[in-house]
Amino acid sequence: MTARTVSTTDLPFPVVTRGKVRDVYDLGDRLLLVASDRISAFDVILPSPIPDKGRVLTQISQFWFDLTAPLCPNQTLSGPDAEFPEEVKDREELHGRAVVVKKTQPFPVECVVRGYLSGSAWAAYRQAASANGIVELWGLRLPAGLRDSDRLPEPVFTPTTKAHSGHDESITFEEMAGTVGNETAGLLRDRALAVYEAGCRHAESRGLIVADTKFEFGERDGEILLIDEALTPDSSRFWDARTYEPGRPQPSFDKQFVRDWLQDLADREEWNKESPGPELPEEIVRGTSERYREAYRRITGRELEAG
Ligand SMILES: Nc1ncnc2c1ncn2[C@@H]1O[C@H](COP(=O)(O)OP(=O)(O)O)[C@@H](O)[C@H]1O
Ligand SMILES: [Mg+2]
Repeated sequence: MTARTVSTTDLPFPVVTRGKVRDVYDLGDRLLLVASDRISAFDVILPSPIPDKGRVLTQISQFWFDLTAPLCPNQTLSGPDAEFPEEVKDREELHGRAVVVKKTQPFPVECVVRGYLSGSAWAAYRQAASANGIVELWGLRLPAGLRDSDRLPEPVFTPTTKAHSGHDESITFEEMAGTVGNETAGLLRDRALAVYEAGCRHAESRGLIVADTKFEFGERDGEILLIDEALTPDSSRFWDARTYEPGRPQPSFDKQFVRDWLQDLADREEWNKESPGPELPEEIVRGTSERYREAYRRITGRELEAG
């Protein structure tokens, strides 16, 4: 049995923002983050919610926040501070998907870390490679002859802007330092790399590859905290280590069903990849939901508790 899905929420608190996935409410010096079951693909929010998706995202994030807290402080609150406000305590649909966290001032950058060449990074590598034998990318010298989905010699930090709508743009470390200051930029880079590497080690022990991921950080009382979500299927490319085969794009662990189905539709010119997206057929919804739960199982070694 799956609990009912949550597409959007309307709780009795001031709304800070409604993101692609999360509804964020202001509780004074804390925030209530509610991960909905909304799913986006090709940057379009689809009309069909995915059962359990929000609960999986929240609980995977919490698993990583707990595991990596010694490396990098995060938004997590504990004890009475972490309790739901009275007004929403008895809302069962929020359990497992909503968290009360420290409110921060987010830095306007996305801290992307890549261990493998994929997506836009593979495109950038190919472009840089065609110029001459040596490949200079992200201020690094990379070996020539890498293939799509190949592992990089070491993880790289490739920050982007945080666009309010549309695509995030790649920026250099120096550009990032221009926005947040040199010292903060260095700290964000080092923490993002440290959390990514710890995440990779754990994921590897569970047969998963974290090809790349995106972190957000915020500041509060002079302290820099990891916020929002961490190492989830939405913020990362997870690949199954058993079927990993460089030289071609790897199927994404969670969203491949949705993407393939939408791509077919686009190939048949029945959808132009713009909003509004199409309703998903039931078997695609079910398959995707099962993949999110499988990601939870693989990462945490536990079964997602019934909602
Ligand atoms: N602890 C926090 N402090 C301040 N802002 C936060 C915190 N956690 C998350 N946020 C913000 O809440 C929003 C969550 O929305 P989300 O659906 O994840 O969309 P996005 O695609 O913008 O990340 C983001 O804008 C994120 O910066
Ligand atoms: Mg987010």
